Amino acid sequence: MYALYFVCLGLLYVVYERLVLSSLSKVPGPAIAATTRLVLMYYEFTRRRRRWIHALHKKYGPIVRIAPDEISFATWDAAKEIYVSEGSGYDKTLFYKLFDNYETECMFSTLDRAPHGERRKRIADRYSKTFIMQPDVISGVQERAEQFVAKCTEKPGSEAVDVYIYLHCYAIDCITYHLFDPHGLNSLADASDLMKVKELSHHDNLKDSYMQYYFTELFRYTASFSRRVDRSKRIAAQIINIARRSDIAEHTVLYRLQTHEDKLDTRSIASELLDHTLAGLDTTGDGLCFLMHQLSLPASAAIQEKLRLELTENTSMPIDDLPYLDAVVKEGLRCFSPIPMSLPRKVPRGGRTIGDIFLPEETIVSCQAYTLHRIDEKVFPNPDNFVPERWLESEGNIERNQLLLAFSTGGRGCIGKHLALLEMKMLLRETYSSYRTSVASEMAASMDVDDQVIASRPIGRTCLLKFEKIM
Ligand code: HEM
Repeated sequence: MYALYFVCLGLLYVVYERLVLSSLSKVPGPAIAATTRLVLMYYEFTRRRRRWIHALHKKYGPIVRIAPDEISFATWDAAKEIYVSEGSGYDKTLFYKLFDNYETECMFSTLDRAPHGERRKRIADRYSKTFIMQPDVISGVQERAEQFVAKCTEKPGSEAVDVYIYLHCYAIDCITYHLFDPHGLNSLADASDLMKVKELSHHDNLKDSYMQYYFTELFRYTASFSRRVDRSKRIAAQIINIARRSDIAEHTVLYRLQTHEDKLDTRSIASELLDHTLAGLDTTGDGLCFLMHQLSLPASAAIQEKLRLELTENTSMPIDDLPYLDAVVKEGLRCFSPIPMSLPRKVPRGGRTIGDIFLPEETIVSCQAYTLHRIDEKVFPNPDNFVPERWLESEGNIERNQLLLAFSTGGRGCIGKHLALLEMKMLLRETYSSYRTSVASEMAASMDVDDQVIASRPIGRTCLLKFEKIM
């Protein structure tokens, strides 16, 4: 009986400490979430974390306590402090261990600043804008954009095409060309590669990932006898073999890793390659899918027309010199961020102050792109509307670009940003220079956003469009 009293007293003290004594107690938010992480976990496991946090920001303002030791922010000043201060911002949390491959770290899953910086330095030149704009890279992407359009238009004009899958094929063919040409995937032409893309882009691993994060030991223990399917098993086996090969094109990331004076071991190289393959698949594939669907809606007819005009009147213009194309892509990334979720970091030793809130060390802090792209209606008026024109206005340009967190920012921001933008722009140019697209009448799948642990995709995982040749 005494034991029960002690447990109850202990629990009461924990609640009192979290609600009253903690330096985070001043931060607004629901009291129940400040008391126990179970509330946040409930929204995570029911794939509503992003929407719940957004609703909290709308209710409580730009700083919200979402768990006893976790705060969400929704301002550029906070994003700058968390992701840019001292170059690469605060260190990552254990959440990122979910992204180890072959039980080996990759750059993305490296938690601390120094080893991350060392890893990033090895390959940064392969992703710089200058490198991405070289003929070897551009021609590889161009070839795959042409293949995508050919694939979508090979059937008679009236037939609907599922661009969801072909856009994922395009994304993986492009990224694996950049990573380990000539052994990249050719899923737009090869049926067995297409199967691999289907496996990867239809798999749902949200619950397994959260189980692994919160109940790591139990997850490991049950792995031996559960029927859990590892999403990337086949591609992982292929990549570790490729990592050992020596006949690799010089323009690739693998060549850079293999010829580095202080070469990594094969598992580390493969872990890096697999991470980039998956990072480049879901993000670019899903981002383009949402964007092409949006452009194909009747409400976007004028936008599609304006885009076509720019493309057909400037056929010899470098891809980056087309302002409307750029605006369409940015607005797509704003409205349908492929990574709309919080990017968690932990407050460094000694604690930090953000706004006027002191955050003790180890507090988990983050911003989520979904909220930053909508919350300030002075910067983004009518935030739920798809309006590429907003990116052409000079007034407010700095604020808009600051709040666009689709690729994150700072030294741990997306290394693939320039490649992704090139892929997106080339595919849109190739498509809309010659074709008009519309949503097929038989399209019944939902295009609402389905959150995975960090990325998002359309719920229905199907997007039926019709392509009409412009004469
Ligand atoms: C539209 C497409 C893309 C979007 C929206 C996107 C978004 C992001 C975001 C938000 C982050 C930071 C994540 C975090 O801090 O937790 C990130 C990191 C990263 N992205 Fe992308 N990404 C895209 C395409 C690509 C591509 C094509 C690659 C291929 C290499 C790639 C590779 C990576 C890697 C390796 C990191 C980790 C960087 C580091 O730890 O230093 N991404 N990306």
